Amino acid sequence: MTHQEGSFSRTTVTAALPYTNGPIHIGHLAGVYVPADIYCRFLRLTGKDVLFVCGSDEHGVAIPMKAKKEGITPRELIDKYHKMIEASFGEFGITFDNYSRTSSKIHTETASDFFKQLYEQGDFLEETGAQLYDAEAEQFLADRFVTGTCPKCGYEEAYGDQCEHCGSSLNATDLIRPKSVITGAVPILKETRHWYLPLDQYEGFLKQWILKGHKNDWKPNVYGQCKSWIDDGLKPRAVTRDLDWGIPVPVPGGEGKVLYVWFDAPIGYISSTREWAAREGKDWEPYWKDPKTRLLHFIGKDNIVFHCIIFPSMLKAHGGYILPDNVPANEFLNLEGKKLSTSRNWAVWLHEYLQDFPDMQDVLRYVLTANAPETKDNDFTWKDFQARNNNELVAIFGNFVNRVVVLTHKYFDGVVPAGTSLNKTDQEVLLALSDFPQRISDSLERFRFREGLQELMSLARLGNKYLADEEPWKVIKEDPERVGTILNTALQLAAGLAVLAEPFLPFTAEKLKQILNFKSLKSLPSWGSLPEHANSLPSGHLIAPAELLFRKIEDSEVDAQLEKLMQTKKENEMSDTPLLPQKETIDYETFSKLDLRVGTILSAEKMPKTKKLIVMKVDTGLDTRTIISGIAEHYEPESLIGKKVTVLVNLAPRPLRGVESQGMLLLAENPDGKLTFVTPEEGASTNGAPIT
Ligand code: MF3
Ligand code: ZN
Repeated sequence: MTHQEGSFSRTTVTAALPYTNGPIHIGHLAGVYVPADIYCRFLRLTGKDVLFVCGSDEHGVAIPMKAKKEGITPRELIDKYHKMIEASFGEFGITFDNYSRTSSKIHTETASDFFKQLYEQGDFLEETGAQLYDAEAEQFLADRFVTGTCPKCGYEEAYGDQCEHCGSSLNATDLIRPKSVITGAVPILKETRHWYLPLDQYEGFLKQWILKGHKNDWKPNVYGQCKSWIDDGLKPRAVTRDLDWGIPVPVPGGEGKVLYVWFDAPIGYISSTREWAAREGKDWEPYWKDPKTRLLHFIGKDNIVFHCIIFPSMLKAHGGYILPDNVPANEFLNLEGKKLSTSRNWAVWLHEYLQDFPDMQDVLRYVLTANAPETKDNDFTWKDFQARNNNELVAIFGNFVNRVVVLTHKYFDGVVPAGTSLNKTDQEVLLALSDFPQRISDSLERFRFREGLQELMSLARLGNKYLADEEPWKVIKEDPERVGTILNTALQLAAGLAVLAEPFLPFTAEKLKQILNFKSLKSLPSWGSLPEHANSLPSGHLIAPAELLFRKIEDSEVDAQLEKLMQTKKENEMSDTPLLPQKETIDYETFSKLDLRVGTILSAEKMPKTKKLIVMKVDTGLDTRTIISGIAEHYEPESLIGKKVTVLVNLAPRPLRGVESQGMLLLAENPDGKLTFVTPEEGASTNGAPIT
């Protein structure tokens, strides 16, 4: 059965808690935060009681690992990214009622109490078993600390808790050929004690609740994934870890252990609700416990198992909680044909977008929604971004609004003219307008955000077509009264756009309301009022001067973004090129035969008719000699004069293009082929000093 939104008395909406190991990028936005925000704004506009919570996910091994990489403490890392993420969400217009963090006191309490309750109810298995252990790093390996081949799909870079290729949820000991991420070592098995959630015992419940109960209202991708896990057979899953970063296990024997991040993080939704309620003087419990509350989780597809299988089993075990009514998970968004990746810097970062395109939040919201990966993975390209802005937002939406407003000022001094005798076309247009709220609602209630946005754009298209057909700029000469009716009708469409655009394009809707001077209206047009009377703007109402809603995006702007990505690509390719393996060992005897000296380049000239060669005179301390090097593609000859270098002086002389080279300069070669001198430290040695 399709659950009608209307049969509930309130809605709790959660958006996946982002990890604080990096900034937010367009993949997060398209998959989770933009659709969740559209949905919550829509519910609020239609007068629903909705609570929208989120927060930072600050535990898990990804945090200490990233902190180590950045050379800061985990605490510094989470503070840095928590602040950054919260600020960029705010600026982007994501309207969380509360944005919390899992390092907060209220969350530690909520998650500990939750764990303790399951413990006391005897819901856990307590087991000592062999886990992967890195003997070199003296650390147990789980989750992202270990990679190996996925037993389900054969992907070689699967993590200890999950394969990002096929989406399977894994135990570290399931991995084939596991490898420690810390040292690269092959892990050994070592005994340790942990608490397990016996998911196998929840199979009956999950079958009934998901396979029977949500066959028709969950998205096929979500339902399909759940079905395959359940059909595969569920196994007990450890919910504690041997780690020093996380929430301490709050029961006897838990010393030195923490809760598994996927145990504590979803409880973060509850903590965030409690934090909100405490601040607002509200009661949090109905939002999680009243069966008349509809719970929705907005997530990306890699989070499905945690939100559909594990967290619901935890809630069920605890008792007293409602279960999610729907989990509208999206597929992934790619960038210019490649998978987004925080670690490979392959992303459009939200904070950078906000800097590069100030006051253009709605353009990104628009493009990400129009291209949302709702049913399959999708691609974001800068060319498409530019085209959708210029050909859709500017040419359709912006153009319509601008024409109506400019003409109203031109012919009627900015006063809404009377719509005297409506002809058939006018009536049809207004009738169509009154239908739009329901059409958009129908799409949004089914989580079809792209379709909802298409509907909105067809209202703008309708407006453009109406003006083009009625040609008020021609009619004005013979029949100004008719023009009044045309503009009155068109202004009603513009007012409709101002109301209906808000979930999708909130900044634009606000601007349009200002242009149409909504604040002077006695009764504000709303989602509910539009179907009843399309006449939102009464005649005689004064509107503000025209102002452009959107601006064109130039080629140079998207070229700059593409250039930035090219740079990233180059850097990635370089670090992907493997270093040459070590050569065969030599004995000291052999090494000591090399006579290496400090020298100084006295002169340097390009060898005529060659691309690579430079002829130099080098003071070796012993003598001044000619040395030829293939470095012309890396250095300008003039820049070499006076340079201290390392010279192999006893290399047998050899002629190059008729000139004898009497030694060799040492250079380091990067994987991309770039050469740089191996130079003795400034002033450290005199010419001729032996290098040993
Ligand atoms: N941090 C996780 C991720 O980015 C999502 C956590 S969602 C929660 O994939 F439910 F655990 F909070
Ligand atoms: Zn796999």
